[in-house]
Amino acid sequence: MASPGLQLQLTEPELKLLQTLVYQECGMHFDARRTHFLQDRLLRRLKECRLDSFYSYYRLLISEEGKEELAKLLENLTVNETSFFRNKAQLDFFHKHILDEILRRKQEKANFSLRLWSAGCSTGQEAYTMVMLAADALSYHCLRNPSGYEAPLPRPLIPPPWKVEILASDISYSVLRAGQEGIYSESQMASVDYNYRLRHFDKVGDRYAVKKAMKELVHFDFHNLKTEYLPQHMDVIFCRNVMMYFDEPEQKRLIDKFFRCLNPGGYLFVGHAESLLGLTDKFNMIYRNTGTAYQKVEGGP
Ligand SMILES: C[S@@+](CC[C@H](N)C(=O)[O-])C[C@H]1O[C@@H](n2cnc3c(N)ncnc32)[C@H](O)[C@@H]1O
Repeated sequence: MASPGLQLQLTEPELKLLQTLVYQECGMHFDARRTHFLQDRLLRRLKECRLDSFYSYYRLLISEEGKEELAKLLENLTVNETSFFRNKAQLDFFHKHILDEILRRKQEKANFSLRLWSAGCSTGQEAYTMVMLAADALSYHCLRNPSGYEAPLPRPLIPPPWKVEILASDISYSVLRAGQEGIYSESQMASVDYNYRLRHFDKVGDRYAVKKAMKELVHFDFHNLKTEYLPQHMDVIFCRNVMMYFDEPEQKRLIDKFFRCLNPGGYLFVGHAESLLGLTDKFNMIYRNTGTAYQKVEGGP
């Protein structure tokens, strides 16, 4: 049983065991700079489980009945910082150039489906931002390229015959629940301008609820980027501020996986502190102003 003032200083071998287990499970790499954080979160879980030794907790983690506790530990180790319209310059690039290019290419082939993935979506702001920008880009595209389809009134968010599917995935169940709920505080809405607030959110008390039409387009699901199972036929993947917690071999494996789940000519977006430079030759870096994206190389390896 854990004592209330439990202190724990992990030995080197204990630390190594824990780092290895976390790395094998989800790819997160805890180097010397983040050891303190790992130790702090471990202590929290030990207290919660009313255990007072590292080894009794470790035995639980690797046991069949400890699967739920392992998921809770991983959840405690994730950094979930996010916001709507994060990295505005990159999103402008996505909105005005990348989406435009994809929509024109698809229209030529009479393929009216757009599949986007927010991998490591945290509480959903990134996925909902993608919907708002895709809906805008599609309305504009359809104005310039009338399809002959008469949309019923009131006009749907996505003009027919187009279909948009957005997958929002994460390893943490609590952030997925928050994203699914789609209710945000005034401070979380700070970067959403009034035009978008009016069109896509309902004010409920002092908070904002994502409207049904936008919610229906986003499918929140548990997915661990460490696994080999991957969603397929994506046009665009946003995996921003996730790879930075992985070490280089794991980053390379992840980029290879993204290559396999993108459609020909598909795009990958990573965070502003992340880059594919030196990690792969399967993507071309493209940029405009301060926005950067990586396009799958055709006929690539
Ligand atoms: C800092 S947030 C980034 C959120 C959003 N992409 C953004 O840029 O605003 C990182 C997210 O990645 C998730 N994550 C970490 N490791 C993961 C893994 N192996 N598989 C799936 N998601 C993971 C975390 O749970 C967290 O919600």
